Amino acid sequence: MKVLVIGSGAREHALCWAIAGSPLLTKLYCAPGNPGIATLAECVPIGMLDIATLVGFAQDNAIDLVVPGPEAPLVAGITDAMEAVGIACCGPTRAAAQLEGSKTFAKQVCNAASIPTALWERFDDAAAALAFVQRRGAPIVVKADGLAAGKGVVVAATVQEAIAAIDSIMQQKRFGEAGSAVVIEECLLGEEVSLLALCDGTDALLLGSAQDYKRVGDGDTGANTGGMGAYSPLPRFPVKLEDACLELIIRPALVEMKRKGMPFRGILFAGLMLTQEGAKLIEFNVRFGDPECQVLLARMQSDLLPALQAACDGELRDFNLRRIDRAAVAVVLAANGYPETPTLGSTINGLDRAAAMPDVSLFHAGTEAGPDGTVVAAGGRVLTICGVGADIGQARERAYAAVDEIAWPGGFCRRDIGAPP
Ligand code: AMP
Ligand code: GLY
Repeated sequence: MKVLVIGSGAREHALCWAIAGSPLLTKLYCAPGNPGIATLAECVPIGMLDIATLVGFAQDNAIDLVVPGPEAPLVAGITDAMEAVGIACCGPTRAAAQLEGSKTFAKQVCNAASIPTALWERFDDAAAALAFVQRRGAPIVVKADGLAAGKGVVVAATVQEAIAAIDSIMQQKRFGEAGSAVVIEECLLGEEVSLLALCDGTDALLLGSAQDYKRVGDGDTGANTGGMGAYSPLPRFPVKLEDACLELIIRPALVEMKRKGMPFRGILFAGLMLTQEGAKLIEFNVRFGDPECQVLLARMQSDLLPALQAACDGELRDFNLRRIDRAAVAVVLAANGYPETPTLGSTINGLDRAAAMPDVSLFHAGTEAGPDGTVVAAGGRVLTICGVGADIGQARERAYAAVDEIAWPGGFCRRDIGAPP
């Protein structure tokens, strides 16, 4: 099989790493990729939103399967465009990607399918939204309706904060048109987990669950980020609970999407809150999480490639995805100043030593080839180091031992990924 992966992060590096291990693969391309991915795949300099050029490339190179990493090309319709020329693409159509692209759409699916989620209301009008939060009080959650790169959500501890959020999203248009409407939700309390499944429109196979660390600083302090680390499995979310949430949340969503004429194919990521009343859905994403992908693929025993193809073909029913009975811990290294203003251009040393450590995988994100074969920082999140071990403690030790081999004064990481609470 000839495969084209789309994206340039550590998630896509992990996807390429998993796919490169498949005996079914004959050729792997990645657009646009990064220097780490270039060791596994032929990187082609096409932007992930340049859909017409990506389709042309896939046709010219007889690609059998396209695997988009991020949500942006999916929401922009890459699956529709590939399918229109007869090329399989493992992701939802533009219509089905609204599960992530529109919070209102996702909430309507939840209501129609009786999926447990926070009570919510949508407002197009700022005055009505302000009156609502004044009536409901705090804590309360304010979300821009459209895509805002994960930054359009404010968990307001006070009514004042909620008012400021509505003002910034709806009146100052901080996220542009994504903020022409807001969804205001009940605030859920509990532990957050990410549950991921591969779906073929009708059937779903669990890829596993992981916990993400969203704040930049140790002890969950500081600004929200794309994710600073992850681990799997979760002691408080065993396989039995995963299975229950598959039945309670993922399958009902698939039934409702099919009923709407938008069967969901690809990776469905349910962000869950484990509340005292049971698991409730916070949000759907229509793709792998980053860094959840890195730990889930580090634990995947089955060949991922035929499963991705089967998801496109509606043939997951006969599949089984086996996971290894080991733990994985992924630590993200970011450039100093991330997430606000990462400093780019610093040199990173020791990568080969780190990658050579036993039971360690090193995934590139924002890196660039520097002069004389060096690697320099070229983005906010720059690397993910993933350790595997008999338990979380051992996986964590291995991950941080590898992190300590990396000499990079221009970067930092959290030191508490996978640590006991
Ligand atoms: P999102 O961008 O939708 O992933 O939301 C960002 C973060 O906001 C989530 O990961 C949660 O930590 C938090 N959040 C979103 N909705 C709620 C809610 N209804 N109750 C509590 N926390 C929430
Ligand atoms: N790590 C969370 C996400 O990818 O959305």
